[in-house]
Amino acid sequence: MGHDFAGVVEAVGTSVTRLKAGDAVLGVARFRHAGAFAEMVTASEKAVVLKPVDLSYEQAAALPTVGVTAYQATAEVRPGQAVLVNGCLGGVGRAAAQFAQARGASVAGSCRNPAADEARELGIEPVVGFGFNPATLAERFDLVLDTPGMLPFAAARTLLKPGGTIVDIVPAPAKMIRSALPGPFRAMMGRPVTADLEEVARTLRLPIARTVPLAEAIQALTELEREQRPKGGKLVIAMAGS
Ligand SMILES: NC(=O)c1ccc[n+]([C@@H]2O[C@H](COP(=O)([O-])OP(=O)(O)OC[C@H]3O[C@@H](n4cnc5c(N)ncnc54)[C@H](OP(=O)(O)O)[C@@H]3O)[C@@H](O)[C@H]2O)c1
Repeated sequence: MGHDFAGVVEAVGTSVTRLKAGDAVLGVARFRHAGAFAEMVTASEKAVVLKPVDLSYEQAAALPTVGVTAYQATAEVRPGQAVLVNGCLGGVGRAAAQFAQARGASVAGSCRNPAADEARELGIEPVVGFGFNPATLAERFDLVLDTPGMLPFAAARTLLKPGGTIVDIVPAPAKMIRSALPGPFRAMMGRPVTADLEEVARTLRLPIARTVPLAEAIQALTELEREQRPKGGKLVIAMAGS
């Protein structure tokens, strides 16, 4: 949270060659610094790309981290494969569904029951609730992408075809150990690779649920964390005059 941004380049360092002052861009602030809830932000050149003209700054700011994570999590998906996205209407989930479909896979997903029709409208089928019984979808998927990191390992393994992969993007010590062992489980961190971020900017489009000014950010973030209902898209913090 607070890593992604979109805006206009104010200045560049002497070794920067790809970008210049005045460019409209989107990107990811340095992980340890975060700090993108601000009027000015610093970022590494590799984590910043030009903003396509058809994207507003708000739309562009919604894409970087979830987009790159989803793009990299689905990188090995091949045409004809089947993917299950747990949490298919979250930021990473929506992005992963789009990339997996673009890579020629069929996509199934889980979401809160009231949002099932929205998931189906995105071409996701079947759509199941969060408490689904994995036995009903046993051995159906080449990739199980667990975006909230909440699927028990045994449940995820039940869903997999032989040779399939489970990708979990919410790291925890036990998951990192499991990921290092032989087997289908992989814990993954998205990395700001320039070419991946360019592809995300070019192709990914996500709905924005709400845009608020910086002064209302804390209130909006608190509501986002407390409300137990489908979010409907990204929360964007807009700077004065943007
Ligand atoms: N490893 C990385 O590089 C990386 C990158 C980005 C994000 N992340 C992490 O990945 C997680 C997801 O990120 P995000 O941006 O996609 O968050 P998000 O937009 O909040 O999406 C999370 C999704 O999980 C759903 N969910 C909630 N409880 C669930 C359950 N019991 N079973 C299945 N799904 C459930 C949510 O549904 P509702 O909206 O209905 O609650 C929502 O659709 C976060 O923990 C984030 O910190 C990791």
